[in-house]
Amino acid sequence: MKRASIGLAFVAALGLLSNLHAVGEALKKEKDGKWEAADGSPTYNIANDGTVDWYTFSGFRRYHSECHVCHGPDGEGSTYAPGLLEPLKTMTYPEFMLIVATGRQVVRADKQSVMPALGDNANVRCYMEDLYVYLKARVDGGLPRGRPAKRADKPAAADAHEKACFGDR
Ligand code: HEC
Repeated sequence: MKRASIGLAFVAALGLLSNLHAVGEALKKEKDGKWEAADGSPTYNIANDGTVDWYTFSGFRRYHSECHVCHGPDGEGSTYAPGLLEPLKTMTYPEFMLIVATGRQVVRADKQSVMPALGDNANVRCYMEDLYVYLKARVDGGLPRGRPAKRADKPAAADAHEKACFGDR
């Protein structure tokens, strides 16, 4: 009896561990089609049938118009710039935003590696969260390479955000 209950506790603990991801998923919140992690940072959503939220899809499109020339398709990296999947495992949204907006560079005799400051580019600035959640979906969410097959409709809030963001220039 005792042995059985230890066994049960063990199985339960294992189940708990493997469910950590599921717990994180369950603590996410959605508002107007936009998803937020338990700590308040922007995040993606991938439904059971593979449908991604609008912002993840939008991030895919923006990434491939503004970033992929240097960072390679799907965040995989190129000879010119590092892949973004490895750093995005731990990079927070504020850290990401700072690097993308202000750039970063290593310029030495033996190495020149320049990430341009893109904060003045509305096609980047207005889609900062979209870019981040798309890359997080690739890193943490198992989003496959390529254009997401199914996406949610564009929320009215996304239209309003674009209008406000592009309008303030
Ligand atoms: C002109 C080429 C170029 C473009 C365009 C570009 N990047 Fe970069 N990016 C780089 C290079 C080169 C580095 C490495 C800089 C260094 O060595 O510190 C980098 C670094 C980064 C890093 C830090 C990676 C790390 O390992 O910490 C992030 C995040 C990043 N880029 C995001 C983006 C995003 C998002 C876009 C599109 C909106 C973008 N970049 C567009 C060249 C580019």
